[in-house]
Amino acid sequence: MPRAGKRRNHPTKNTVTDLSETKGPHAGDVAGRRNFFAEAMALVCGGLAILTPVAAGVWMFLDPLRRRGEAATFLPVTELKAIPDDGVPRQFAVVTDRIDAWTGFAAEPIGAVYLRREKGSDEVEALSATCPHAGCFVEIDPEEKCFRCPCHSSRFTVDGQMVAPSPSPRAMDGLACRVDKNGGVAVKWQNFYTGIAEKVAKP
Ligand code: FES
Repeated sequence: MPRAGKRRNHPTKNTVTDLSETKGPHAGDVAGRRNFFAEAMALVCGGLAILTPVAAGVWMFLDPLRRRGEAATFLPVTELKAIPDDGVPRQFAVVTDRIDAWTGFAAEPIGAVYLRREKGSDEVEALSATCPHAGCFVEIDPEEKCFRCPCHSSRFTVDGQMVAPSPSPRAMDGLACRVDKNGGVAVKWQNFYTGIAEKVAKP
């Protein structure tokens, strides 16, 4: 009569040995190194995940400041043929792409200018439409053939000179203007401090 014996499980050829369970003098070292590398990788990945958006945010925050420093840039406004050579000022919007911290605004109006040119001339004279008194928008008075500010009634001649008496402490602010060979008209756009006699550009 055969005796019932204890059956032993022996690893076969196909058995996969879990090294983490390896017993031996160096088993603790192997597991420790593996944990160290896993934690290091997690730290690097976590750091990158945090630093990338932070770096992007810092760049976006600094970018408008950088642009403000370059405020005096020529911006295309219109074409020469859009300005009749009759000496009468015409108003044009100043439009540019703008980035405000996190948001970009395409073709955003940032101000207005008056452009005019004399008979037969290709030279364009540009005046900021912002009143030097307190920053309202100056309008054209077609009857009196002058500029008039609707806020406190400052008046200016068509070439921007002050008409006394005037609440405005100075004449309208002239802007550099250039016409390219294709007839494109660009204005060096700048904002100026209001309420003072000197024409001082904002940074
Ligand atoms: S803001 Fe133009 S007159 Fe005061």
